[in-house]
Amino acid sequence: MKRLIVSLFIIHFPLFVSSIAAQSLPVYLDETKPLEQRIDDALRRMTLDEKIAVIHAQSKFSSPGVKRLGFPDLWTDDGPHGVRPDVLWDEWEQAGQTNDSCVAFPALTCLTASWNPSLSRLYGESLGEEALYRGKSVMLGPGVNINRTPLNGRNFEYMGEDPLLASQMVAPYVQGLQSKGVAACVKHYALNNDEEYRHQVNVIVSDRALHEIYLPAFEAAVKEGHAWGIMGAYNLYKDEHNCHNQYTLNKILKQDWGFDGVVVSDWGGAHDLDQAVKNGLDMEFGTWTDGLTMGATNAYDNYYLSRQYEKAILEGKYTTKELEEKVRRVLRLFFRTTMNRERPYGFLCSESHYETARQVAGQGIVLLQNRGNVLPIRTGQAKRILVVGENAIKMMTVGGGSSSLKAQHEISPLQGLKDRLKGKVEVDYARGYVGDVGGSYNGVTTGQDLKDERSASELIGEAVGKALKADYVIIFGGLNKADYQDCEGHDRKQMELPYDQDKLITALAKANKNTIYVNISGNAVTMPWTKEVPAIVQGWFLGSEAGRALASVLVGDVNPSGKLPFTWPASLADVGAHALDAFPGTWREGKKVIDEEYKEGIFVGYRWADLKKTRPTFAFGHGLSYTTFELSNLRQSAKETRDGRLTFTVNVRNTGEREGAEVVQLYVSDLKASVERPLKELKAFRKVTLKPGESQDVQLSIDRRALSFWDEASNNWKAEQGDFQVLVGNASDNTPLKAKFRLVE
Ligand code: BGC
Repeated sequence: MKRLIVSLFIIHFPLFVSSIAAQSLPVYLDETKPLEQRIDDALRRMTLDEKIAVIHAQSKFSSPGVKRLGFPDLWTDDGPHGVRPDVLWDEWEQAGQTNDSCVAFPALTCLTASWNPSLSRLYGESLGEEALYRGKSVMLGPGVNINRTPLNGRNFEYMGEDPLLASQMVAPYVQGLQSKGVAACVKHYALNNDEEYRHQVNVIVSDRALHEIYLPAFEAAVKEGHAWGIMGAYNLYKDEHNCHNQYTLNKILKQDWGFDGVVVSDWGGAHDLDQAVKNGLDMEFGTWTDGLTMGATNAYDNYYLSRQYEKAILEGKYTTKELEEKVRRVLRLFFRTTMNRERPYGFLCSESHYETARQVAGQGIVLLQNRGNVLPIRTGQAKRILVVGENAIKMMTVGGGSSSLKAQHEISPLQGLKDRLKGKVEVDYARGYVGDVGGSYNGVTTGQDLKDERSASELIGEAVGKALKADYVIIFGGLNKADYQDCEGHDRKQMELPYDQDKLITALAKANKNTIYVNISGNAVTMPWTKEVPAIVQGWFLGSEAGRALASVLVGDVNPSGKLPFTWPASLADVGAHALDAFPGTWREGKKVIDEEYKEGIFVGYRWADLKKTRPTFAFGHGLSYTTFELSNLRQSAKETRDGRLTFTVNVRNTGEREGAEVVQLYVSDLKASVERPLKELKAFRKVTLKPGESQDVQLSIDRRALSFWDEASNNWKAEQGDFQVLVGNASDNTPLKAKFRLVE
């Protein structure tokens, strides 16, 4: 009997406790209650001071929770390629922690070049796990500003030039990250397409270009990715800074798209109390009040959304309406992140994260040219390989601005090749050129000593001498993360390769017919020597596993399958923004604002190349493989459509001798329209992996939006009835399969 009572007690005790707990638990802590009810309850309990506190920073990267109610502080961090090392409370200098060395994932340009949305999801998940370990609840990224000019110093952090590609890649990244209970903070919203004068540039752009080119990726992040955070951009639009912009934030983001997350200012992007209160900003970070010049003990008290806002409320200048709305959104963020009890544990530098990094790199590296099938390297036949170039040895995870990392390890291309070819092929090295010998960012240093006093001709001479005796020459050149290269804060000054690299490359190609050039960058560079160099590879910034991933592709362990996420123009003259002299704009009188008019409108990237019939060095969507594919038998679900929904089926066959992946790309062309439309626009794509001889039917679907343009008269999307053509192929300049259909009323 006693036993029975005891066992009944054991069975019922948890129920008993939980029912007591449920009774006494305040609504905001009761996870069985709907989210909005919990927010209402928390909001009611908060004092004015507490409400003001949660809408602005308390340190470089954190804002306070509400300790009295059990809401922990909220920690944010960059973003977007790994979790940035901790900095001091109130300084940019790294804090010198010993537990913040992370996995550096490949840059977003590389991720996008994989054209593989499921890899984007994995990237987000892996980053989320790293962030959780580090106690970060908001990752400042991903960035989806459109590549409008190859000079933009931050293109490497973004997802290319095409709104559809960027949209399809950003949504799964956000979903993956947030599935771990870590918020994405998608940036930089909006129109932050160059770096120079980023605080002063006022963008003037047509509504069509805004909606068709510059907004879709943000829209997808919000509507499909369900992003919990958006970061306002530094620059201005319609004469208002984007961190508090009535039109982009209140109207488009919150009203039209129904965004229910927080708008975070870019660091120091708030400039005006009234606008910060009224124009959609929810949380203010990084405003430049250093405590000394402001004469205050706590600089954060001087933020716009801090004491001055509180004072203005107390004086009756504002009601608490806007404040309540901001706090409501912040609380929603708390419940989604810091207060989310379902959050998994994080882990840092796990083998699975390195595996993600390798996969992304392996699928994102682009084989641009491979004349005479120089690649992959025949390891069985080669005796000596010469590796040339600073980028073969330079660590790239440090530098570039806020995306700079402290990686647990970074395998250089030279090391990667040496490791892979150990005992099989001799790998020699020549510096070739000296570029940027610096290697530190906010106190994180690479520890590399890259100084070399030799002249350019000595360096070229040495490399050529060695090249004559090698079976292959692999040059690792391109850009780096120093100022005015692929780096935040400035744009590149020219499209040409820096540091006399053209001379070096030409000399080496002359000395050795098996010369391979691997370009490390996040941007296109001019390549006047494409006819002389048989093989060209785009190697991006690949992070921790760079060398290993590059070696795998070069020797053929991995068959390249990346495709360019942007057009590689032959020169700046072939880029709309430059051809029309629409970059970087003109200073207004008084030199406070620089007006940058996007005169090329919707004609960005391949849309411009198609319009002007220019031949880029490499087209958008281009990328080769070590095998060959044949696309055939294009079929369509119907010849006519009323709602725009159609499915196209195409057969893809691997006609070569090794397994590989191909990206089938579908472009749509409006054959007759009342407005000027691009010759074609990417509207669907699919990556498929096939064994030699294998074939597969691939389905690609479109809907009404794929046929629409932004109609400036009705301020809405509009698809006009009439004839359309679809073009299917494996690059924007190779779309041999065509079909027609009609949109009917
Ligand atoms: C950058 C953001 C970054 C922030 C915090 C800003 O300067 O524009 O992308 O997230 O700093 O480091």
